[in-house]
Amino acid sequence: MHVLVTGGAGFIGSHVVDALLRGGHTVAVLDSLVSRVHPGRTWPDIPPGVRRVRGDVTERDDWLMALEGADAVVHLAAYQDYQADFSRFALVNDAGTALLYELLVERRQPVQRVVVASSQAVYGEGAYECPDHGRQYPPPRSLEQLARGAWEPRCSVCGMPLEPIASSEEHPAPTNAYGISKLATESYALTLGARHGIPTSALRFSIIQGPRQSPANAYSGVLRAFVGHIRHGRRPVVYEDGRQRRDYTHIRDAVSAVERVLEHPDAVGRAFNVGSGKVTTVLEYANAVLSAMGVVARPDVNGRYRLGDTRHVWSDTTRIRALGWRPTGTLHEIIRDYLAWITDVSESEDWAAQALARMEASGVVRQVPQAD
Ligand SMILES: NC(=O)c1ccc[n+]([C@@H]2O[C@H](COP(=O)([O-])OP(=O)(O)OC[C@H]3O[C@@H](n4cnc5c(N)ncnc54)[C@H](O)[C@@H]3O)[C@@H](O)[C@H]2O)c1
Repeated sequence: MHVLVTGGAGFIGSHVVDALLRGGHTVAVLDSLVSRVHPGRTWPDIPPGVRRVRGDVTERDDWLMALEGADAVVHLAAYQDYQADFSRFALVNDAGTALLYELLVERRQPVQRVVVASSQAVYGEGAYECPDHGRQYPPPRSLEQLARGAWEPRCSVCGMPLEPIASSEEHPAPTNAYGISKLATESYALTLGARHGIPTSALRFSIIQGPRQSPANAYSGVLRAFVGHIRHGRRPVVYEDGRQRRDYTHIRDAVSAVERVLEHPDAVGRAFNVGSGKVTTVLEYANAVLSAMGVVARPDVNGRYRLGDTRHVWSDTTRIRALGWRPTGTLHEIIRDYLAWITDVSESEDWAAQALARMEASGVVRQVPQAD
């Protein structure tokens, strides 16, 4: 196939491009090289033979140029941030996806598959159980609760702390603008795809980690932040009490999920969780990074918290496993592979400190006053 990868200069996209080339496909990339991911706004190394279109997924003419000859589209370009520019999520992620389908229908372009990137963020606080009152999907923790440092979601009936469980695909309930935009992205893609005969799949990625995650991008996740702080002589900053449970997934597994749904007939018309299936606390992760970097220190747990963060969330991957997909990456490999790459990347700018300062200045990151 000739596959168009949007966001192909980014983290997941660049690895997808490599895998598609290895699989014998030809590839085009549509990417606007946003400065928060690509500070110099220049193309990273893109393998020879890949057609590069520098353009924006909100621009009709850019899509038209990029879609030329495409048999399939992997749509990864997206706006991701923790800031409060809510309309931008809708503009880039939803209008951009709708525009893709508008053009495919208008041109009657017979694509074999569209895969759109969604996110675990569609689950908001995720799924929980109360021993006495059963399954619950709690709303976001209130500002008042967070300001008290009372981190755990509580049962809506008895007020006792809830026990988190894996989130399966059935119950999306996003609690921030990014998650809402990703659920809408899926909805446009799967609904318009079904209606117009464009075979479509959506992948709800958990936290994907590995080499090529831009150190400049505040949204690149904890590994980038932890390593950035440690490289600049600070302790890794951990929000809340660090006992948040998460699902960190090796980039290799995200890529193999894209490849799997791109060609599997049973993937059409459906959304799939992509996660490691292994639960790790943020504190465990911070300690693992410190240890891998040979630094003896304790993570910086100082009552900071970030608005919009979920307490615990990880993915139930039963649905995609039924397509024969299996995650193989371990936490050790994630950290090892990222460190092997980042060691050669200059971090003359202190991106981790800048991102933290920006989030603190805008009130996204706050602090429980009485914490030590
Ligand atoms: N990395 C993760 O942990 C994760 C988790 C859940 C979902 N996702 C989703 O996976 C996709 C890829 O994420 P990533 O981690 O590779 O991000 P990334 O920021 O590394 O890459 C995104 C790429 O898209 C490009 N881009 C951004 N806005 C664009 C626009 N308007 N037009 C054209 N190009 C644009 C950027 O320049 C960048 O190269 C995104 O849709 C993201 O929401 C990622």
